[in-house]
Amino acid sequence: MRVGFIGVGAITAAMVTGLKGSALADWPIVLSPRNVDVARGLAASLPGVTVAASNQAVADGSDVLVLAVRPQVAAEVLSGLRVRPDQTVISLIAATAAADIACWTGAREVCRAIPLPFVAERSDVTPVFPPLPVAMELFGALGIALPVRDQASFDLYGALSALMETYFGLLGGLSDWSVQHGLPEGEARAYLAGLFLNLSRVAATSPLSFEALRAAHSTEGGLNEQVHRDFVLNGGPEALARALDRVLLRITAA
Ligand SMILES: NC(=O)c1ccc[n+]([C@@H]2O[C@H](COP(=O)([O-])OP(=O)(O)OC[C@H]3O[C@@H](n4cnc5c(N)ncnc54)[C@H](OP(=O)(O)O)[C@@H]3O)[C@@H](O)[C@H]2O)c1
Repeated sequence: MRVGFIGVGAITAAMVTGLKGSALADWPIVLSPRNVDVARGLAASLPGVTVAASNQAVADGSDVLVLAVRPQVAAEVLSGLRVRPDQTVISLIAATAAADIACWTGAREVCRAIPLPFVAERSDVTPVFPPLPVAMELFGALGIALPVRDQASFDLYGALSALMETYFGLLGGLSDWSVQHGLPEGEARAYLAGLFLNLSRVAATSPLSFEALRAAHSTEGGLNEQVHRDFVLNGGPEALARALDRVLLRITAA
């Protein structure tokens, strides 16, 4: 299966890197020419990766076409691109409907996916809607391909995927607080990274609900209970829900 990428930025670089270390490493990859330094760098360092002369040449030379340009330029870049009826198109473009992609390109089979940078290490959990077989195979090679049953669910995953900056912002805030109170930054970072790594491992592997895990990691009258109560009293959960509501609105309005 030949995989073409139109748009060679951060997420394409991560996917190409991941694919070339995966069970699908022998699938040839063809890249669009813009952002030529990144495209040529990938082609020079990884086997079976080439750079095409134009976006149309990428479409013509691939069986699966991955679209990874920014939403702001999607209509301009994709209008006029000719896609064969037998080609599967996988759009990574945020807040852009599959129907629009089909309309711009003439593609018959379009699905959407939300890969995150963890595809480079093949540890991503990637929502795919609709879960077309070739897309499931591709993202399965990059970690776990999550089949999504409807558009509304896919939009919810889109909103949840917008939490990455908030996560690092939270860690940054906790680290800053620790440093202000006298901990060396490196020690605060090592402690916080280990704490959250262990919590994420428990969240990923435990059969308990999050509510049960919360209770299991708290003692009545203890320190964890106190911090969580303060977080709730200060509107922390509502602030997060409001932020997700707003980003979901942006996704569904597009
Ligand atoms: N990064 C993520 O974690 C992530 C996750 C899921 C989905 N996405 C989605 O994936 C898409 C790409 O994201 P990204 O972070 O990889 O963005 P990015 O780093 O900005 O990459 C986009 C690339 O598209 C190129 N481009 C612009 N016009 C083009 C054209 N006419 N023909 C071919 N290529 C063109 C840009 O080149 P120039 O630099 O020369 O403009 C740039 O290299 C976005 O729609 C985003 O919503 C990203």
